[in-house]
Amino acid sequence: MHDLKKLIAQLTLEEKAGLCSGLDFWHTKGAERLNVPSVMVSDGPHGLRKQEEGADHLGIHDSIQAVCFPAACATSASFDRTLLYETGETLGQECMAENVAVLLGPAVNMKRSPVCGRNFEYFSEDPYLAGELACAFTKGVQSKGVGVSVKHFAANNQETRRMSVSSQVSERALREIYFPAFEKVVKEAQPKTVMCSYNKINGVYASENEWLLTKILRDEWGFEGFVVSDWYAVSDRVKALKAGLDLEMPGGDRENDEKIVAAVRAGELSESVLDEAVERILKVVLDYIDNRRTAKFDRQADHQKAVKIAEECAVLLKNEGALPLKRGEKVLFIGELAQKPRYQGGGSSHVNAYSAEGAYCFAEGYGVSYIKGFGADGGGTNEERAEAIHAAKNADKVIVFAGLPDSYESEGYDRTHIDLPECQNLLIKELVESGANVTVVLHNGSPVAMPWIKDVNAVLEVYLCGEGVGEATVNLLYGNANPSGRLAETFPLKLEDNPAYLNFPGDKKKVDYAEGVFIGYRYYDSKKQRVLFPFGYGLSYTQCAYENLTVSKSEMRDTETLEVSVDVKNVGQRDGKEVVQLYVSDHTGSAVRPVRELKAFEKIALEAGEKKTVCFTLDKRSFAYWNEDLSDWYCASGEYEITIAKHSRDVGISEKITVHSTARLPLSIDDNTTVEQLFAYPETRAVMQGLLKKTRPHDDGEKMGKKDDAMMRAAYMQAPLRTVKLALNLSAEQYNGLLGMLRGSLEGK
Ligand code: BGC
Repeated sequence: MHDLKKLIAQLTLEEKAGLCSGLDFWHTKGAERLNVPSVMVSDGPHGLRKQEEGADHLGIHDSIQAVCFPAACATSASFDRTLLYETGETLGQECMAENVAVLLGPAVNMKRSPVCGRNFEYFSEDPYLAGELACAFTKGVQSKGVGVSVKHFAANNQETRRMSVSSQVSERALREIYFPAFEKVVKEAQPKTVMCSYNKINGVYASENEWLLTKILRDEWGFEGFVVSDWYAVSDRVKALKAGLDLEMPGGDRENDEKIVAAVRAGELSESVLDEAVERILKVVLDYIDNRRTAKFDRQADHQKAVKIAEECAVLLKNEGALPLKRGEKVLFIGELAQKPRYQGGGSSHVNAYSAEGAYCFAEGYGVSYIKGFGADGGGTNEERAEAIHAAKNADKVIVFAGLPDSYESEGYDRTHIDLPECQNLLIKELVESGANVTVVLHNGSPVAMPWIKDVNAVLEVYLCGEGVGEATVNLLYGNANPSGRLAETFPLKLEDNPAYLNFPGDKKKVDYAEGVFIGYRYYDSKKQRVLFPFGYGLSYTQCAYENLTVSKSEMRDTETLEVSVDVKNVGQRDGKEVVQLYVSDHTGSAVRPVRELKAFEKIALEAGEKKTVCFTLDKRSFAYWNEDLSDWYCASGEYEITIAKHSRDVGISEKITVHSTARLPLSIDDNTTVEQLFAYPETRAVMQGLLKKTRPHDDGEKMGKKDDAMMRAAYMQAPLRTVKLALNLSAEQYNGLLGMLRGSLEGK
């Protein structure tokens, strides 16, 4: 154990300020005379992007050769915590071997719009799913003595003007949608670092946002590591330090260090604030040094892991008997992506892959033939298309390797549409028209429109599945592996259906998150909007059936937990995996809420014919929403429905339970407090009934609360106090007396 306070006491003010910014692009500073080393941080997160020279944060210069694992758009579809933990372990081991102290990821921002350029790096439109998977990944990396940087905190959901835009978001949406993935990782996996985002939140840069970086992150959630800026995200260094931003990256510019020194000297910044930041940085650095061990980066072994992980991520979206392919069938692969797959996105996460071969390379043993049809860059000629259609005439089945070219989605900019390159859509259409049996394999980091969906026989979504994608795809197509992925995001029919459509990417300065908590399926399902594929959806070469849904009680207080169990049986002919999803619906009517929200899930393996019982535990948070009056999670009393389903639109099987709240919402008494609100609290109800008895003996208060004539009831119940004053002809004095009595009753007077 290091005595950090003692160490810090030996540092000069200049040294301390210096430790709060990097040495260069990828290193922290050390303090040699006190044996504090400089350590390296590197992108990720789905592979190591360790740059030795030619540093940049946009994926321009090369990095060392490393294994490229599936990106988060794909790993999230696995719905598999163990898989994420193991991926994290492997990456942690690689970092240790390469002497990297912090891996810059996972990236857990929500997919607010399908066109965000960085969606391929993010997990989901669902905060619970993103949090669970990122938490498992973090635990895996950190189990190897290497830290992570959970990024980009917070409300960074677009690339357009990402460095300056202000995300205008309600606290409720932040708490329910944009924060929970961070919250989960912080509370359960204690990441070594959190990276703040470039953007502003409600007008304040994330890097200068004390509410965000100190009040919520540290005071509420208990974060113990250090906050690092996204690269060049610091605007006012002193303000940022005060707000809780410890390490500025990249380093190399001494001006900000000098500003810190000057602010301390001028008495504008307390030296203790600086000391705390230094302590948090040194703790992470020295922990890493203390836990360092020699490790081997076994690229070949890790490549094989990347193949296995990719097999767990692919989502079978449609299958009318075309898959799995059978040996002996005449199969034709079309599209250059079969030879040069797209398996990762562009930007800071770009990995210099160790070995990335296309599916065709692994299909020769099956006698598959290949024709280009169109290029991997999205371009294709009429001649190439005609040749492909001609070749397809001799095939029993054709597999079109379609997808988005690199230029379509990347860090730094957003897409403007969700279409595949035109030549791909055209070729698929013409193949269908020529009578071919068509399967489409999709390589993309975010949803695409599928104008041909009704006409093709099968669709396998492999996302950006890392360098193992070629081998994994062949294994999935031929049934050596059974697809088990589920969509971690809704595929809308068209971009205009997306709830953020009218407010994305906003105007020059700000973007309004006007849809509030209704992002992704929370919106589509509540609106009963038709979608191409719903959240949680995915097929398999086998089928599972659910029965015996049981809940441990039919009534509970919000301080208790509820056990839920369900039997799942593989009723198909093949071994496979099932993602059992649990959704909660609030029927209390006490707040505007999405019709259903994912609150638990489990992925299980089942042999053909096998049955297993899956158990879940729900607690208050599974039922609650963020109540802005209470400034806390609130679970209204009343009925909730628990549904076990295959996806967010599946009817599934459900049970109802009643939850009793132990919290009471504050009621503020003013001119606009309504009779209905007053009748909801026994104390104020008694005051109102007393008043009515006195002023309107013929119209007693008991009846007033119960009036069953809908119009009369609405008129009475929705009347605000200022109208009551007029209706009852109260003098100013009487009215003020009433307000006093109502307030007093709530205070127990
Ligand atoms: C990205 C981060 C990345 C950093 C370092 C930034 O542009 O937003 O995700 O970790 O660069 O490359």
